[in-house]
Amino acid sequence: MPSGTERPYVVAHVAVSLDGATTGFQPDVASFYQLARTWEEDLTLAGADTILAQEPALATAERPGPAADGPLLAVVDGRGRVSAWDALREAGHWSGVVALHCRDTPPRPPGRQVRELVTGAERVDLGGALRTLGREDGIGVVRVDSGGELIGALMADGLVDEVSLLVHPFLAGEGATRRWWGEHPAAAPLTMVAAQSLPDGLVWLRYHPCR
Ligand SMILES: NC(=O)c1ccc[n+]([C@@H]2O[C@H](COP(=O)([O-])OP(=O)(O)OC[C@H]3O[C@@H](n4cnc5c(N)ncnc54)[C@H](OP(=O)(O)O)[C@@H]3O)[C@@H](O)[C@H]2O)c1
Repeated sequence: MPSGTERPYVVAHVAVSLDGATTGFQPDVASFYQLARTWEEDLTLAGADTILAQEPALATAERPGPAADGPLLAVVDGRGRVSAWDALREAGHWSGVVALHCRDTPPRPPGRQVRELVTGAERVDLGGALRTLGREDGIGVVRVDSGGELIGALMADGLVDEVSLLVHPFLAGEGATRRWWGEHPAAAPLTMVAAQSLPDGLVWLRYHPCR
C-alpha cells in the first residue's frame, strides 16, 4: 500500500492501430481484456469521454450488481458530464465507483448515489486524486482506460509508470479521431520492457517512460 506521499503504480493499457489510433478500427476486445488481467489492478481509472462512449451500451446492459472482488472504478469527470453512475456500479465489473471532480465541476443532481472525490480547481488534480485513493483505499495498482486524452494528461504530469500497447494490424487512417498519447504530447524517451507477437497479427508492446 502506498504511503501518504506516494502514489499507486499506473499503467496505461491501450488497444491501438498501427498508426497509433484508439478509434476508427475494431479492437480485439477479448485479447485486450485478457492481457489487462496482467496487472490485477486495484483501480480502473477512466476518462469521462471513455465512459460517455459506453453510455448507450450501458443503458441496455445487464446489471448483475457490484463485483465484490473486482477493482474500484474512478472516473475523471471534471465537467460533470457522466450520469450513468448506477449502471457503472451495477455492471458486474467493479466493486464500487468514485466520481473524480474539481472545484469548478458544475453542481450535481440532488440525491445522486455516487461517492465523490474533489481535487484541483479548474480540472481534476490527477496526482492528488491518485495519492488520495492510494492512501484512503489502499490502491496499489491503477489501470488507465482512456482513448488518449487522459493518458496524455497523466504523462504530462509524470504520472504514468508503464505504457502497454496492443497493436492491431490495421491502419485507421482518416477514421482515427484519437491517438493513444492525446493531442499535444511532449517528447518522451521510453524504455522497452517487453515485445510479444500474438495470434491474428497482434503485437503487445510494453514500455516504461524514462524519468
Ligand atoms: N482503444 C482503446 O483502448 C480505447 C480505450 C478507451 C477509450 N477508447 C475510445 O476513446 C474515446 C475517448 O477517449 P478520449 O481521448 O476522447 O478521452 P478520455 O481518455 O476518456 O479522457 C478524457 C478525460 O480526461 C480528462 N482530462 C484531460 N486532460 C486533463 C487534465 N489536464 N487534467 C485533468 N483531467 C484531464 C478530461 O477531463 P474533463 O472531465 O474535465 O473533461 C476527461 O474526463 C472514445 O471514443 C472511446 O471509445 C479507446
